[in-house]
Amino acid sequence: MARPSIIVHGGAGAWLNFDEAAVQNGVREAAAAGWEVLRRGASALEAVEAATIILEDNPLFDAGIGSFLNEQGEVEMDALLTDGREIRFGAVAGVKRVRHPITLARLVLTRTENCFFVGEGADALAAQLGMPLVANVEMISESEWQLFRQRHERMQPRTGLGTATGTGTVGAVAVDLAGHIASATSTGGTPDKKKGRVGDSPIFGAGGYADDQLGAASATGVGENIMRFFLSKAAVDALAQQDARGAAQAALTFLEARIPNPEAGVIVVKANGDVGAAHSTNAMPIAWADADGNIHTAMRSG
Ligand code: GLY
Repeated sequence: MARPSIIVHGGAGAWLNFDEAAVQNGVREAAAAGWEVLRRGASALEAVEAATIILEDNPLFDAGIGSFLNEQGEVEMDALLTDGREIRFGAVAGVKRVRHPITLARLVLTRTENCFFVGEGADALAAQLGMPLVANVEMISESEWQLFRQRHERMQPRTGLGTATGTGTVGAVAVDLAGHIASATSTGGTPDKKKGRVGDSPIFGAGGYADDQLGAASATGVGENIMRFFLSKAAVDALAQQDARGAAQAALTFLEARIPNPEAGVIVVKANGDVGAAHSTNAMPIAWADADGNIHTAMRSG
């Protein structure tokens, strides 16, 4: 039997002017939900989905309810679930009408012969596969709506691609008792993004990656930087020589060597259950379970 393990992240960003206790409680709750799935012997795939659903439901994080709004004031969400058993994935991008994009990514993986659905077709697939559809406005948090109104009243769009004042994409990686490994990544993208813009999160190898022989990774931050360097695949490849923390840092260092201040972060789990994280931002809330199932949290990787 393998050592079950899970680590989650609530997004690389500045995390200025946030209630850190509430943020750490949010990631703690997600890791605890994932750990409970692992403890009862269910799969890593189910564990990372369960953890991510908690983060999608928490308006403090840029995924599900609480997603950053695009320039037209809409929520457009992306998600990726990866399965290390056979190196498979399910992904969705630009979805507007599902409460849990990560669950739709699981249905793409487990219930279709395809890998990736976008936009209206992805929302329609959700309905076909039995997911309830919601109005887009139901996904808009009060705080994101106020930010959107302020920007437009002042005719001042947020500048740059970054998450400089805020939060980021969420994700989870896990190993289950059977030694299978999975990653989940879910996002509302970047603040004030152009309609139709998609970042790294649903891109296999960029936003997430899993290989039972090595481990898994989930990335967060500015997708235009992350996807050019397949940050998650780079971190998993580095596990061949390093522990989880070393692999996360090695992948990030490689990115930083090519892009100054990439505004990115990554979490990693190794096949032996070792976990690690690295980020180039001021903060990246994380939570992980130790071998006894105790949940630990931090706003920054040490
Ligand atoms: N990492 C999320 C995005 O760039 O969309």
